[in-house]
Amino acid sequence: MREISGNKKGIRDSVLAELQKLYDLQSPQLVSPELALKLADITEFINREISVYITRSGQIIEISIGDNATVELPTFSGRRGAGRLSGIRCVHTHPGGNPNLSGVDISALKNNKYDAMVAIGVASPDITQSTLTFGLITGIDSNENYTAECYGPYTLEEAENINFVNTVATIERILDKQTGGSSLQVMSERAILIGMEWGKNDSLWTVEDSLEELKQLADTAGATVIKKFIQKRPKPDPAFYIGRGKVQELALFAQQENIDLCIFDDELSPAQQRNIEGVMGIRILDRTALILDIFAQRARTNEGKLQVELAQLQYTLPRIMGKGLMLSRLGGGIGTRGPGETKLEVDRRRIRDRIAFIKEQIEKVKSVRSLHRAGRKKNNVFEVSLVGYTNAGKSTLLNTLTDSDIYAQDQLFATLDPTTRQLTLPNKQEIILTDTVGFIQRLPHQLIAAFRSTLEVVTEADLLVHVIDVSHELYKEQAAAVHEVLKEIGAETKPVITVYNKIDKLPPESMLAERLAQEEDTVCISAVKRLNLEALQQQIEKHLKSKAVEVTLEIPYAESAKAARLHETANVLSQEYSERGTVLKVILPVEDLDDYNEYIVKSE
Ligand code: GTP
Repeated sequence: MREISGNKKGIRDSVLAELQKLYDLQSPQLVSPELALKLADITEFINREISVYITRSGQIIEISIGDNATVELPTFSGRRGAGRLSGIRCVHTHPGGNPNLSGVDISALKNNKYDAMVAIGVASPDITQSTLTFGLITGIDSNENYTAECYGPYTLEEAENINFVNTVATIERILDKQTGGSSLQVMSERAILIGMEWGKNDSLWTVEDSLEELKQLADTAGATVIKKFIQKRPKPDPAFYIGRGKVQELALFAQQENIDLCIFDDELSPAQQRNIEGVMGIRILDRTALILDIFAQRARTNEGKLQVELAQLQYTLPRIMGKGLMLSRLGGGIGTRGPGETKLEVDRRRIRDRIAFIKEQIEKVKSVRSLHRAGRKKNNVFEVSLVGYTNAGKSTLLNTLTDSDIYAQDQLFATLDPTTRQLTLPNKQEIILTDTVGFIQRLPHQLIAAFRSTLEVVTEADLLVHVIDVSHELYKEQAAAVHEVLKEIGAETKPVITVYNKIDKLPPESMLAERLAQEEDTVCISAVKRLNLEALQQQIEKHLKSKAVEVTLEIPYAESAKAARLHETANVLSQEYSERGTVLKVILPVEDLDDYNEYIVKSE
């Protein structure tokens, strides 16, 4: 049985025995309510401070009577470097009910580099009403001193829900950055991936496929994947998703292999995430959080950043209990990064306010965009939207097509989103080509909702060009996932040209491209090698012809207003003057044809 240290004078053996029993308790998150209540109970009885020292995995390593400043801690053997905290937190009681941290508490926090300094104000006589506050080291100032902040007071239940492990991991990454720790380590977090096979899999993707994609996502986010695990169960465990036993096995592996991050392929409930984090002692992410993190890194436009932040906040909100802590804006590592400003503490109310603010901003940007669009519609400019699975080659195609066209005039649209370009087709018709956010299987619904206004370009386009990476093993499944998203945003009935891209990567003996090219409304291309781009443009022209016709009109000078109006409502390819009137070669929307029937001198 472990000893109790400190000033034991006048303390009965029976009380010491009670305290010794606490060594058997586990306290995975900040402090478990069971431990807090027992400490409060004994404190109330002896009317003295009690300090308990807990490792990050929840083990109690020292219990002492008296204030925490006098305790000499055993040295803890862990992997602690310059940018690391001690891996130990101190939880102590304040008889008399005041939960605030004293100056001595804060100095002890900084001097010992504790993970946290927790003070429980023991309420008397009803100890269940006790509250606690805690201090955390939050960084290093310009004089190389640690900075600290206090949080609380919280009720004991609220404290249980604080995502402590995640918070400490984030702080360590900040310290690591500030102390110029190994930048390699900052760049690359060691991750394990977890997939689960349960019940009937009616998805086209096997767990292995999905994990392979998760690996690519993790790589994109900057992690190094050390190992993938697949767990088979009849159904998910409500508390630990893959089951407590498997979590414990993973915890051991993570400890042996210095793993920083554990990424689940499925969405975890907030409670599952907290429980697993409690056992494993490292950051736990799910697929949704990982995708959100990648989007956060990639968002370039103001609107994109707002949309990602909105999705992140909506994801975070149910994961914050009570006045929970959120350090996610501090740039501490994968899953903790956001496009927004850095803020240390964000509670539910503040998150709700921020969500409302962002929604308002998005509405504003949206109304500016619809003005642009209204202008383009009035001018009858055709809009073609590129859609496709992530990495299919949409951006490459957009660039290749528009750069290759010397008539493309970017400056006309300087105020537009940079992913919208003008393209002049071989028949001189001008169209607007828009790139959209890449799709992915099981795209987080928060993201689809947040990106709905961007995706409006898809629902309002005249034509979709669906770009598929035909060299990918799962190209069919990826195409199906794109159809799913199109359905979700109500764009499934749009006319589509299917573009099989990257044919240069197919083995020379493959007849796949030849076979696919037989399908209707299909082109096989290579955006990089510029193969078949003309055929693609001709396909687009063909589609647009069904909505517009090329005609030559001769409009009498007496009706010159009509000729002038054509410049707004049609695409004028050329204009000459005859004896009788203005001769215009135009591409006219089919629905306007009747208005100009009498002036047609030639139709294609
Ligand atoms: P997201 O931004 O994720 O939606 O991707 P995207 O669809 O815009 O793909 P992007 O244009 O960024 O291309 C992805 C990768 O595929 C890049 O490395 C391109 O160089 C490559 N790529 C695109 N087209 C081709 C092609 O025709 N052949 C080959 N070999 N590679 C291509």
